[in-house]
Amino acid sequence: MSDAGTGTTGAGWFTPVAAGVQPVDLNIEVPHPARMYDYYLGGKENFPADRETAEQAIAAFPNTRNAARQNRAFLVRAVRHLVGEVGIHQFLDIGTGIPTSPNLHEVAQGIAPDTRVVYADNDPTVLALH
Ligand SMILES: C[S@@+](CC[C@H](N)C(=O)[O-])C[C@H]1O[C@@H](n2cnc3c(N)ncnc32)[C@H](O)[C@@H]1O
Repeated sequence: MSDAGTGTTGAGWFTPVAAGVQPVDLNIEVPHPARMYDYYLGGKENFPADRETAEQAIAAFPNTRNAARQNRAFLVRAVRHLVGEVGIHQFLDIGTGIPTSPNLHEVAQGIAPDTRVVYADNDPTVLALH
């Protein structure tokens, strides 16, 4: 995981304290599904426990990394179609996951800059990285 915006406070890694927001204990010794998914995608928001468990999943299911990347590729194709051909300029991305590039708003606003995107996720670790 990149160190940008994170820090340690004795017991472990915590997210930064923005105004009115409680820090999130990232609990980096325990593999986290969203950070494992980030690892499959080649992201940097993951720790050794995430990577080790992700590699075990890949060993058991060799298509795991490809499936994650094809999932993202589908998102890009679908958003390009919806913005460019259907004319949709508002999106609600539920279960957005850890930010990755290109993310939905980057694809959509690359075609129609006025496109608005709301990202939603119920995982505090994911929300802390948005
Ligand atoms: C595999 S990630 C998918 C990331 C991204 N949407 C993609 O397709 O690449 C699934 C995400 O859904 C979130 N999630 C699961 N159940 C949810 C719920 N009931 N409400 C909101 N988010 C949820 C998880 O926290 C996780 O970040």
